[in-house]
Amino acid sequence: MDHFLYRDGALFAEDVAVSEIAAAVGTPFYVYSTATLTRHFRLFDDALDGLPHLVCFAMKSCSNLAVLKVLAGAGAGMDVVSGGEYLRARAVGVPGERIVFSGVGKTEEEMRLTLAGGIRQFNVESEPEMRRLSAVATAMGVVAPITVRVNPDVDAKTHAKIATGKSENKFGIPIARAREVYAMAAALPGLKIIGIDVHIGSQLTELAPFEAAYQKVAELTEVLRADGHEISRLDLGGGLGIPYTRSNDAPPLPTEYGDLIKRTVGHLGCEVEIEPGRLISGNAGLMVSKVVYVKEGADRQFLILDGAMNDLIRPAMYDAWHDIVPVIEPAPGAEQVAFDIVGPVCESGDTFAKGRLMPQLGEDALVAFRSAGAYGAVMASEYNSRPLIPEVLVHGDQFAVIRARPTFDEMLSRDTIPSWL
Ligand code: LLP
Repeated sequence: MDHFLYRDGALFAEDVAVSEIAAAVGTPFYVYSTATLTRHFRLFDDALDGLPHLVCFAMKSCSNLAVLKVLAGAGAGMDVVSGGEYLRARAVGVPGERIVFSGVGKTEEEMRLTLAGGIRQFNVESEPEMRRLSAVATAMGVVAPITVRVNPDVDAKTHAKIATGKSENKFGIPIARAREVYAMAAALPGLKIIGIDVHIGSQLTELAPFEAAYQKVAELTEVLRADGHEISRLDLGGGLGIPYTRSNDAPPLPTEYGDLIKRTVGHLGCEVEIEPGRLISGNAGLMVSKVVYVKEGADRQFLILDGAMNDLIRPAMYDAWHDIVPVIEPAPGAEQVAFDIVGPVCESGDTFAKGRLMPQLGEDALVAFRSAGAYGAVMASEYNSRPLIPEVLVHGDQFAVIRARPTFDEMLSRDTIPSWL
């Protein structure tokens, strides 16, 4: 459930008309709903009720400071994958002990930054990373708390570009080698083993792959404990999918996911962490865009928008479906027309949807892309020298620009021309 509903024929974000935001900030823009963000966080938090746990928001899905502040205020920890993300968490007051550091390529600089600032744990993904972390922590005279990310070789049954738990993927260490790697970690100075980490992919729409992975983690917990390691924390990753269209079968609910966690690892007495991104931020955001032209092609109509693939890359990159709805609600029974919905960027990949049924729209009509809160603004670029689009946060009947649209001058001023030119 989200808080983007039609009221009296117009789309609202909570209690603010989307058209009012468009008039104030111009199009395209992203808009997030505070109530939806906090609601989705609470769904996870409640689903793990009864287990010691921390829900760490995967901020790679949406890392605007205002969004992070909403979630931190609701009680979220943070899952970060870079020094920049770590500093974002710290900037909104999240203490180091509520920040987990994931990712396959942590650099020495990032290790030093996070060890100095405080970190809950490093989810270590390889032996070379483990040796590097040991050396950095030892040189700093501190101890780095670690889990090892294991790759359980489970098919997440999701898009190939966002599956991470198969042996062919770059993530984690093969679970079959876990004992050897934990023994190595225990022998290295400056590291303290505290648990196990797993993450098998994103936009999972079935529970079975999670179940297979978590069962393997539960078995491994017993094995590693028998080897003498302290396993007191399990980081079970993110990945629970969201409905991208209202007509599809709904993915499992956080309550069902929570029950699965309790069933598979609840008996181990571990503190559980999860790292959801998309389910918290995805349906908490829209991208709003305006029709620039309606163009008659040889055999089809194109709806040419002012938003493009550089603003929302998911359709071009993952063939992702986003529901696209008119901001003015169509009259009941209004005739539907098939449109190819495209942006102005100079490549055919800049296509959001083909043959999409919409009411007949004309120039200047506003449309909203649903489910655009996750992996939307964070993946945007300035391709075609299009400035990054603004982000807006709604809270009840208030809204605020939480990242302004840069001016063309600001965009150009970041380039420098060398003195010899
Ligand atoms: N934890 C780790 C270690 C991850 O790699 C990810 C996502 C998450 C948590 C959060 O997963 P979520 O709950 O959001 O599914 N850009 C792609 C998705 C990439 C996901 C990368 N890792 C997309 O737009 O679909």
